[in-house]
Amino acid sequence: KENSFVFHNGVEIPTIGFGTWQIPNEEAYAAVTMALKNGYTHIDTALAYQNEENVGKAIKDFDLPREEIFITSKLPAQIKGYDETLDAFNTTITNLGVDYLDLYLIHAPWPWDEIGADYTEGNIQSWKAMEKLYNDGKIRTIGVSNFSVTDIQALIDACNIVPMANQIPFYVGHDQEELLAFCKEHNIVVEAYSPLATGQTLNSPEIKEMAEKYGVTPAQLCIRYCLERETLPLPKSTHEERIIENSQLDFSISPEDIKKLDAVEDVRK
Ligand code: A2P
Repeated sequence: KENSFVFHNGVEIPTIGFGTWQIPNEEAYAAVTMALKNGYTHIDTALAYQNEENVGKAIKDFDLPREEIFITSKLPAQIKGYDETLDAFNTTITNLGVDYLDLYLIHAPWPWDEIGADYTEGNIQSWKAMEKLYNDGKIRTIGVSNFSVTDIQALIDACNIVPMANQIPFYVGHDQEELLAFCKEHNIVVEAYSPLATGQTLNSPEIKEMAEKYGVTPAQLCIRYCLERETLPLPKSTHEERIIENSQLDFSISPEDIKKLDAVEDVRK
């Protein structure tokens, strides 16, 4: 199905998610309401974004049954350990005002001020807590974020459930070939955060030119690229016309043009 991806346990996730990173709590209610109003049914947040409260309120106030909305949140990167994970999960569902999550992710393999540090044991303990929450029916799917092949392999070796998702930075020019191949092999859904490289890809002359050829905007080309590469894009915007634009992706990019986009220089390097 074009409009959903399927996890290895059979649960489906709507293909476009609304990203809420960098949306302050004061703006989150309006932004999430706009997204829901314009057909998004998948919202991505995190305890670390400090906007769960208003994300949850917007979802609650919107006229859709809970089971028709897919909600993702994340275990803060600095929280490692079994009991600590159960506590953080409770904080998240309390903030959101929900009694279950659709997807819960370990936000990163290491705290943000220690990028690259080895927290393998802590990740294993956190993962065991996530397995428990999953088995108790509190979360429909569990996964990771910012994990490398080695980080994921460590969980596979030590735990029972293979992560169902890995949410990573993915955008035109940053194609993550090896990680994508590994995830595909293990049936792990790859979610693309910052599909516009937080807006930086939109000024690329190559991207602008190709977008013109397809009669779409640079943002639409970049988001469609994620889908063509079998990743699930999570675009973020607080402007309604862009929120609408970012979900109108009914076109396809030719294999030759995908190759060209793969070869675009990484805007963040
Ligand atoms: P804004 O929220 O003010 O609309 P990413 O999803 O890669 O994190 O990129 C988000 C950034 O790109 C935000 O700064 C957002 O700005 C901007 N953005 C999102 N969608 C569009 C669009 N369709 N056209 C132009 N800029 C966009």
